[in-house]
Amino acid sequence: MANWKKIIGGLAAVGVIAAAGAGYWAYESLNTGRSSVADDAVQLSDFKSADQDAIKRGEYVMRTGDCMACHTEHGKSPFAGGYEFKTPFGTLLSSNITPDRETGIGRMTERDFFDAVRHGQGSKGFLYPAMTYTAYAKLSDQDMHDLWAYMSTVRPAANAVDENAGMNFPYNIRLAMAGWNMLFFDNSGFAADAAQSEAWNRGKYIVEGGGHCAACHSPRNPLGAEMASKYLQGGNLGEWFAPDITGNPHTGLGDVSNDHIVEYLKTGSNHLSIATGPMAEAVENSTQYLNDPDLQAIATYLKSIEGDQKAPPAPIPADEPAMMASALRYEVNCSACHGLQGEGIPSMIPAFAGNNAIVADDATNLIRAMLVGARAVATHDKPTGAGMPSFEWKMDDRQIAETLNYIRNTWGNAATPVKPEDVARMRATLKARENLAAQ
Ligand code: HEC
Ligand code: HEC
Ligand code: HEC
Repeated sequence: MANWKKIIGGLAAVGVIAAAGAGYWAYESLNTGRSSVADDAVQLSDFKSADQDAIKRGEYVMRTGDCMACHTEHGKSPFAGGYEFKTPFGTLLSSNITPDRETGIGRMTERDFFDAVRHGQGSKGFLYPAMTYTAYAKLSDQDMHDLWAYMSTVRPAANAVDENAGMNFPYNIRLAMAGWNMLFFDNSGFAADAAQSEAWNRGKYIVEGGGHCAACHSPRNPLGAEMASKYLQGGNLGEWFAPDITGNPHTGLGDVSNDHIVEYLKTGSNHLSIATGPMAEAVENSTQYLNDPDLQAIATYLKSIEGDQKAPPAPIPADEPAMMASALRYEVNCSACHGLQGEGIPSMIPAFAGNNAIVADDATNLIRAMLVGARAVATHDKPTGAGMPSFEWKMDDRQIAETLNYIRNTWGNAATPVKPEDVARMRATLKARENLAAQ
């Protein structure tokens, strides 16, 4: 599994200490009263649900929430934890959430489980927001009961994890997270909007809750909290950019049909786009398991979000020397795959013409593809992924920037210029990662 989760973890840990102790008036953020609907007597290790329907529904909630991906170390028992999140403040590990009594959550009651998953209060104290309880707070009582039934079917696995032992002082103090919660955690459950359709409400519930889409697609403030005012308008994850998925017609999904959004979430690609990196993982582990009505509901909701109202920039004129040189470079190096008109090959090679993610202000993904190449997602419906070669050795920073400016400003596209410095910065970031891996 790739390292996006480490990235979220890193972002979410920022500034936690600065926030500690502040905002005691926001006590509501720590209230676990909603957990009282859960049983507080039977521990998970003593519980085996016999309700097959509930178990099945619970598995679906687990897929929607992508619990397994974060809680499974590569090649180890499912849900046994130990998956590493490298943050600027040290290393955090995910918990063993199998029913094992000694090292897992076997001693948790259903109520304890609700406290951890919806309120971020775990068996050792406040949880770090790398665990996406900030989104799961929206999960319904029913979904939580079903999830609990599913967890009782997971095979216990012994794997002792000391989650925050690798965090540096003072970031290893769990109590600090109470302060973070007071500042940023909306502890309230999901509130349906009666003025909207059932599908819209279902879509909102999945996007905000289990799907935790905003964890990547919303930008974060310097303290690592998602910015509500820029909800789903695009988030930078360091090496990756999770694009605008609001209804904005230029950079967002406004001009993408519901069916095409559904196809992307179900199979990892559509006529224009191919999921890579963190989104490829989200599709592989989570969204490909969602049923079509739910995926349609997600599309309905996303497209209804107004998003940023900023007017698109004017395109760079085609007769600028750099654009003319890039047109030739494109034809020689790229057109065999991406098409002479930037039309791509549906579900195999991304198109550039009319592709909203190509014209985002943040060109991180495009620079990255040029420097390291890319491998497309493989799903049950579309099992083989195509590949993109690296141009790192073939083009310098200026040439890469100009080629990207060409694809971002041709065939009706218009986007802000990519600068050679942006490419240089990404080269350095990727180099740093290679060095880290080589150690
Ligand atoms: C983005 C990664 C991520 C996802 C997704 C995620 N978790 Fe976690 N989870 C973590 C991390 C990291 C911790 C440890 C946090 C800590 O110790 O502060 C954790 C801790 C927990 C704990 C607390 C265990 C204890 O002993 O206190 C429970 C329970 C839990 N997760 C359940 C779930 C469930 C159920 C889901 C899916 C609905 C889920 N997690 C999805 C990262 C994740
Ligand atoms: C772990 C981070 C992460 C999570 C969680 C995540 N995404 Fe993404 N998403 C990304 C990244 C990164 C991309 C860009 C991928 C690419 O360009 O290949 C992306 C791309 C997309 C796209 C394509 C956008 C376009 O214009 O081409 C859609 C649609 C999308 N995500 C929807 C969702 C939805 C809905 C959810 C929640 C159910 C979600 N994502 C959860 C990181 C994430
Ligand atoms: C051999 C075929 C091939 C060639 C040649 C090729 N690409 Fe690609 N390119 C791909 C594939 C396949 C992907 C999608 C990979 C994925 O999504 O995982 C891709 C992805 C990209 C992306 C990322 C798109 C996104 O949505 O994030 C950019 C940018 C890109 N290519 C630009 C170029 C440019 C510019 C050239 C020429 C200098 C080029 N490619 C040459 C196959 C190719």
